Amino acid sequence: MLTDAFGRTVDYLRISVTDRCDLRCTYCLPKGFKGFAVPKDWLTLEELARVAAAFARLGTKRFRLTGGEPLLRKGLAGLAAEINRQPGVEDISLTTNGTQLGKHAHELRQAGVRRLNISLDSLRGDCVKDITGTDCLPQVLDGIKTAKEAGFERIKINMVPLKGVNDTDLDDMVAFCIENGFILNLIEAMPMGATGQAHAKVSLQPVLAQLQQKFNLTPFEGKIGGGPARYWQSGSGDFTLGLITPMSQHFCATCNRVRLSATGNLHLCLGQEDKVPLRPLLREGCTDAELEQAIRDAVQKKPEKHEFVENPKKIIRVMALTGG
Ligand code: 5AD
Ligand code: SF4
Repeated sequence: MLTDAFGRTVDYLRISVTDRCDLRCTYCLPKGFKGFAVPKDWLTLEELARVAAAFARLGTKRFRLTGGEPLLRKGLAGLAAEINRQPGVEDISLTTNGTQLGKHAHELRQAGVRRLNISLDSLRGDCVKDITGTDCLPQVLDGIKTAKEAGFERIKINMVPLKGVNDTDLDDMVAFCIENGFILNLIEAMPMGATGQAHAKVSLQPVLAQLQQKFNLTPFEGKIGGGPARYWQSGSGDFTLGLITPMSQHFCATCNRVRLSATGNLHLCLGQEDKVPLRPLLREGCTDAELEQAIRDAVQKKPEKHEFVENPKKIIRVMALTGG
């Protein structure tokens, strides 16, 4: 088991397989962003699988593939299958913007990916275009439809509510999720990079109060996933709302995860710059035991908490680098 200096167990690894993305969400990637990693610095699929296998041997049961947009990385389904083969692995999930799901949903399901989080901030085409910079709503909806057909165990829709942009879309998003049996995950915009900092102003607490009343939501005590979301359910049980509130109510004390970037940096906290590079070690031909020790040592350096509220200008890294 991996434990950190604060006694927290780390049993969840999020792997950003690429920092590239075909969209430019206003709260994530700046337009004209030039800071992407160069291909020679990307871990190969074999290197990513090797790190994942080391984590699995150290007791990591849950893995998430993310990005950037993970489906832009060729061979992703093969990587998922390889991770799925490791002893002790219980769950593989994927976070995607949905644009490529029409092509890849079935092979991902077959590779053992169980659950999807799909980013969708509105059901209005012009609003999605304003947020993402691309007229992609029809393609994303098509991807979501294919994903539904592919039979994933659970699909969550990730929405980042932004004042005056998509906060009037909440009722439509709830209706869409009820109709399709999806969980709606609302995420407070975090001050990651200048783009995130420009948007991280909305507390979800008033949104919750409003939805609670409208849909008769009560707190859901059972467990859904291993993440930081808190859940509410409608009286009729046909709707589940997840709230991720790093700004208005942080959850660092129960944090169970670290993040591997596409270039092989182990990021120890989303809201801190602490990281340990694993790529040099991998390329110098380290043994499995050395890799495992490096991971154990890195996890010991996991910071106690983020400082998004106290120190909002601290994180210059955009979200696409570590995948949320
Ligand atoms: N704050 C909160 N969530 C963000 N995401 C991207 N940037 C930010 C940000 N600054 C979300 C996306 C996606 C998930 C991977 O991260 O909406 O659903
Ligand atoms: Fe791409 Fe996701 Fe960032 Fe949007 S939030 S630009 S879809 S990585």
